[in-house]
Amino acid sequence: MSTVIVNKIYELKKHIKDWKNNNYTIGLVPTMGALHKGHASLIKEAREACDKVVVSVFVNPIQFGPNEDFDKYPRQIDNDKALCEELGVDIIFAPSAEEMYGKNNRLNNTDLTFVCPPYNLVDCLCGKSRQGHFDGVATVVLKLFNITKADFAFFGQKDAQQLYIIKTMVRDLNLDIKIVPCSIVRENDGLALSSRNTYLSKEERSWALSMSKALNQIKTLYDGGVTDTNVLLDSAISILNKNLDIEYIEFRDFDTFEKIDNAKTNTLVAIAAKSGKTRLIDNIIL
Ligand code: PAF
Repeated sequence: MSTVIVNKIYELKKHIKDWKNNNYTIGLVPTMGALHKGHASLIKEAREACDKVVVSVFVNPIQFGPNEDFDKYPRQIDNDKALCEELGVDIIFAPSAEEMYGKNNRLNNTDLTFVCPPYNLVDCLCGKSRQGHFDGVATVVLKLFNITKADFAFFGQKDAQQLYIIKTMVRDLNLDIKIVPCSIVRENDGLALSSRNTYLSKEERSWALSMSKALNQIKTLYDGGVTDTNVLLDSAISILNKNLDIEYIEFRDFDTFEKIDNAKTNTLVAIAAKSGKTRLIDNIIL
């Protein structure tokens, strides 16, 4: 069975109608393309759980700030298609920005209906340096949910804040879709997989590696009984490569997303840092 690339919303909707008429369950894996093993693990989970699988490949302009990497974000639809074929994906939905946002793309944000996630979830962690990012993410994800009418959607835990915001949107807007969180996939040496890793020089990659090392150190100390987040933070800082530009390391309750002083079960430890010019994120759940 070969994977079909669909660029038009009306065309995708025809397939979806057909599938719904046959009572097939639909799994959606939203991506921005440049698929790697992390995406492959989401697709595999979707393939196992659902009758039909749609992978969306769309570099969503409204979630990038003016000084971010929208233009240089890797676009490699042929490689993406090859991987999707291998994994038995039914449809790749790869719309243009015009298809998603209309004529002139309405990208000046003045005449587009946006989803605004709660302030306390966007004004922290990545949202602090990426103003408007999560509005753009929530908006495109809701559109993808509506277009695909998926029963399940699969998201990587690496984007923990995004995952939390999407789960909150599903709850608050009464969406009939189940969000399936999927574990972070790492290189053998621990680096979390990301499409942006391709930007890293050899040296920058070695600096970035200290992020997962620092998170592991926190986990080891926590497993040994240390819960004071100041102590855990200090130990992480001592491991992080001095060439990294650390944006944040934070401890949050992953049930409520509140900041905490004492780590406990289901604590999210999230980090963001720049290695050279590349902004990377990683996290661990205690
Ligand atoms: O995580 C991503 O790749 C993107 O933020 C998403 C969810 C596909 C929305 O554009």
